[in-house]
Amino acid sequence: MSFSRTILITGGAGFIGSHVVRRFVRKYPSYLVVNADKLTYAGNLENLTDIADRENYRFEKTDITDKKSVSALFRKYPFDGIIHLAAESHVDRSIDNPDDFVMTNVAGTVNLLNAALSAWSGNTENRLFYHISTDEVYGSLEGGGAFTEQTPYDPKSPYSASKAGSDHFVRAYHNTYGLPVVISNCSNNYGPNQFPEKLIPLMINNIKNNKPLPVYGKGENVRDWLYVEDHAAAIDLIFHKGKPGETYNIGGGNEWKNIDLVKFLCRIMDRRLNREEGISEKLINFVRDRPGHDLRYAIDSSKIRNTLGWKPTVNFEEGLEKTVDWYLSNTQWLQNVISGEYVKYYEKMYRNR
Ligand code: NAD
Ligand code: DAU
Repeated sequence: MSFSRTILITGGAGFIGSHVVRRFVRKYPSYLVVNADKLTYAGNLENLTDIADRENYRFEKTDITDKKSVSALFRKYPFDGIIHLAAESHVDRSIDNPDDFVMTNVAGTVNLLNAALSAWSGNTENRLFYHISTDEVYGSLEGGGAFTEQTPYDPKSPYSASKAGSDHFVRAYHNTYGLPVVISNCSNNYGPNQFPEKLIPLMINNIKNNKPLPVYGKGENVRDWLYVEDHAAAIDLIFHKGKPGETYNIGGGNEWKNIDLVKFLCRIMDRRLNREEGISEKLINFVRDRPGHDLRYAIDSSKIRNTLGWKPTVNFEEGLEKTVDWYLSNTQWLQNVISGEYVKYYEKMYRNR
């Protein structure tokens, strides 16, 4: 079968990547979608069992830090579009061990840029390198306002510093070599398939198991939450309609203090588990704060809304309920990811908090 386009999606076995892969495989049967993923602790092919046998889908186990594997991938497929999501993505892990973040997020991105540059030399028409980044590159909002595409970079954690570094390389390859690139910086995602080291699935799992709910500091930090499928829809739009050289901020316009969010989640869980209202909240446990914890993120997404017509479609209560239901019904998925490495991780991160 011949395909109209060949798209590389890196990190497609992870949380957001798996939603993007599924969307592209289903919506664009004429595209060949190649998912390249190292399958770290965060990568899970179980996220994609429903589309794994589709004719227009391929999986390639690839470590983007390994130049030879990346070159081999580009020799095997004539990619005309790249959506780059592969990354080390958890802030707490970056504080514990920054090295992997430098290697994957910075060096891995540069390997992909080099491979694209070499594959597309002389012909960049209808080619695009789309780099998926985060609002954390802008730093922490200590007062009001929101991050725009013009906000100066001010990353504060090893994770956000590595993502900022990768963004700078992507822009530098556009400016220096004319590589057609686009970048988007998104706020906090939530939804099915998120690894339970992140706030929402960690809390769902702990509430379910009657374990303490570790809220960092006083729970005053604010995040802007977006349902993962709304992010995937924005990525689809930017990939097809975004202007090369541009950056787009993506956000939910949905700010929550952590403590309020955890209490809201507790109420949903009480209902779902037929517990008396207020029972789960008693599990809340304020613990030592994350070092250098960014106080507040908020995204001004007027550019993507006004120029590309994107807006979030899932309201937070509906999205959280869907997420809770997914975790409560996918017990085997959860069991598989919280065995082994997760137990050691949890013990190390939360033992002395
Ligand atoms: P995730 O940790 O769930 O998934 C990351 C994926 O990358 C995994 O499948 C992992 O196996 C793969 N990977 C890691 N190192 C690799 C390597 N060396 N080679 C190949 N594959 C490798 O992450 P996520 O939350 O889905 O985030 C995806 C992207 O979106 C990241 O670039 C992240 O910075 C960005 N982002 C995430 C959020 C969020 O709220 N989760 C928000 C904005 C931006
Ligand atoms: O803003 C986008 C970013 O959102 C992405 O780039 C990152 O990849 C993603 O991990 C996420 O980063 P955060 O640090 O905001 O997400 P996390 O789920 O780790 O934490 C959300 C908030 O909850 C943060 O203020 C820390 C707090 N927290 C987190 C955990 C895991 C707790 O209070 N307790 C916890 O146990």
